[in-house]
Amino acid sequence: SMQRRIRKAIFPVAGLGTRFLPATKAIPKEMLTIVDRPVIQMAVDEAREAGIEHFVFVTGRNKNAIEDHFDKQTELESVLRKRGKSDELELLESDLPSAGQTSFTRQQEPLGLGHAVWCARNMIGDEPFALLLPDMVMQSEPGCLKQMMDVYAETGGGNVIAVETVPWAEVSRYGVVEFSKTDGLALAINGMIEKPVRDKAPSNHIISGRYILQPEIFAKIESAKPGAGGEIQLTDAMIALMEEQPFWGCKFEGVTFDCGDKLGFLMANVAHGLLRDDIGPAFRLGLEKLLQRSLTVDPLPVGNVNERAGLPVTRKQPAAA
Ligand code: UTP
Repeated sequence: SMQRRIRKAIFPVAGLGTRFLPATKAIPKEMLTIVDRPVIQMAVDEAREAGIEHFVFVTGRNKNAIEDHFDKQTELESVLRKRGKSDELELLESDLPSAGQTSFTRQQEPLGLGHAVWCARNMIGDEPFALLLPDMVMQSEPGCLKQMMDVYAETGGGNVIAVETVPWAEVSRYGVVEFSKTDGLALAINGMIEKPVRDKAPSNHIISGRYILQPEIFAKIESAKPGAGGEIQLTDAMIALMEEQPFWGCKFEGVTFDCGDKLGFLMANVAHGLLRDDIGPAFRLGLEKLLQRSLTVDPLPVGNVNERAGLPVTRKQPAAA
């Protein structure tokens, strides 16, 4: 198939974030930070690195903070200028897409990821696009979408999905792909199944939250029946499109954190905090002290936390000489 350049990306951010209440009562979960960068900013950074020029956000009620985040804050900027805070000014400047590079539309009801993507159809038009689930924070060099762009170029087009492996015991929590061959980093995908029971899973390669899709997906979403959970599933539409177009899997080289989940979010903060030039070394020391303390100090206050995490409940140890 003729290969067309990917210029636009969709960021579905209309989910309710119920797993993060009460934090997400008044602010969207995409504004929660990894150290000091909002999760949504990290997804936009990844898309920019991959050459994306237009950023389409599918939002919902209570998501105004996202739109404000991708706007100039002139009052703040003038205060920073007055105070000579040029580093901070430069940071705000470089994080911001140019005027006209962002679009916002609303998913009026949270009817599922497939429906959220479909809400962006008029902003995408008749061209292939990228889709990034901002909850999934992917740590790698180069970024995940850039890795996928390379597969897209190599395979000559079609649809590309980032995949990664998980332990077999966890496959039933994800969308799982079936593939016929491996050619370097590209898998030829010939099947997909959403949240299979372990025995029905065709592989332990899961769909990890980044996609390059052809515009014909919109018609497939439109004709998809509500699937699991009464939601319009993107996976069902992709399965229908697979009858007509190739789907490639890009084996993601890096680490993924599901930041819609409390544990994933905390791990992402630790992983990114440790790599930071400014706070990394001090953070490491602080963490080591905390871990040390939980092993040696009276464990009563942390005892049931450990128990819940399935960790050994520590008893008071004799202090080391
Ligand atoms: P999640 O499965 O994480 O759902 O959505 P959620 O509602 O955001 O969070 P919880 O489970 O209540 O805590 C995955 C992605 O799809 C988007 C979400 O914003 C997130 O990026 N989404 C999901 C929508 O945009 N619309 C929907 O109807 C559903």
